[in-house]
Amino acid sequence: MSLRRELKPHIYSVGAVDWDRRLFDELIPLPDGTSYNSYLIKGSEKTALIDTVDATMTDVLVRNLEDLGIKEIDYVIANHAEQDHSGSLAAILGIYPRARVLCTQKCKDMLMDLLLIHQDKIITVGDKEVISLGDKTLEFIHASWVHWPETMLTYLKEDRMLFTCDFLGSHLATSDLYVTDEATVYEAAKRYYAEIMMPFRIAIRTNLHRIMNLELNIIAPSHGPIHNKPEFILNAYRDWASDDVKNEVVIPYISMHGSTKKMVDYFVDALIERGITVKQFNLSELDIGKLAMAFVDAATVVIGSPTVLVGPHPKVVYATYLANALRPKLRFASIIGSYGWGSRMVEQISGMIPNLKVELLEPVVVKGVPGEEAFKALDRLADEIENKHKEQGIFNG
Ligand code: FEO
Repeated sequence: MSLRRELKPHIYSVGAVDWDRRLFDELIPLPDGTSYNSYLIKGSEKTALIDTVDATMTDVLVRNLEDLGIKEIDYVIANHAEQDHSGSLAAILGIYPRARVLCTQKCKDMLMDLLLIHQDKIITVGDKEVISLGDKTLEFIHASWVHWPETMLTYLKEDRMLFTCDFLGSHLATSDLYVTDEATVYEAAKRYYAEIMMPFRIAIRTNLHRIMNLELNIIAPSHGPIHNKPEFILNAYRDWASDDVKNEVVIPYISMHGSTKKMVDYFVDALIERGITVKQFNLSELDIGKLAMAFVDAATVVIGSPTVLVGPHPKVVYATYLANALRPKLRFASIIGSYGWGSRMVEQISGMIPNLKVELLEPVVVKGVPGEEAFKALDRLADEIENKHKEQGIFNG
């Protein structure tokens, strides 16, 4: 689907909606598809295109530009080098040979490496550098690590529009140009933050601070609908990127013969009785986006696993690896589970989470079917989590 629509006089959305895409990076589920937003700004003297689209959608972008009767493009602003936004760049430079790419120095290097764009086609721009399109002015704001090192934002001063590429975006295919259903967009944006931005939480905060003083009427990301009420997404990001955690325990688990499941079921009830919110994920069929979202707010993770050849189940290894890579702001962790003839599960899982700055609470790992002693130990772990949350002032609401 085409996204060709006029946002304001001489400012157009010219990207593409990808309703059918279900996986990004062969890893990240896209339950609601996505979009690759691209924007055309026709100044009185020069024309700029902000970001391009995924290579699979080049024909949509080209057709949108043709339908608008665009004969010349002076600048292609590359806010980010990743291929879902730069995949059409070579094609656009071929059709519009006068165009020059404007980007950060790091982005230039990456465009040359990843897309073989010739260096003569690229002009680097500094932080806070300004260019004029005639009656419209673009300011570039370097914004490293949202979520690659080369990223920048582009601010259209006269219209108070900020083009943010991945930052503040969402994987959401929709016919709505602007956010209309805030609950749906909140969910998609949180999923996106969790999967893409969460490892760079500190950089996110820095970049939120950098744009704090801009006058903003519109935030136009390059995925998902456009924000014409910027505070909605800015407040959400401030919350997610803050150091605050909620009175929540995430329990990713798997069970082979039912013993670990019995322990998880008992433990979940024990936590709920203590007023703690629980988010439980059976890893046998995992949507990693949902697990990542649960990690955005939670204070504690308790991993439930049986053993496979004395180590944790491989699906637990996968989830633990992801949790470590996503660097959520968890404060406490523990491990529960059952083994048949031997276990080095606690040592192995503990060694897999160096990025998590957590206090490890006493694990509960038992041989065979859990009995009374195991349930008492689970009660003690639930008590300890409740106490730890209270000590740190972590309550519901
Ligand atoms: Fe949407 Fe980092 O690319």
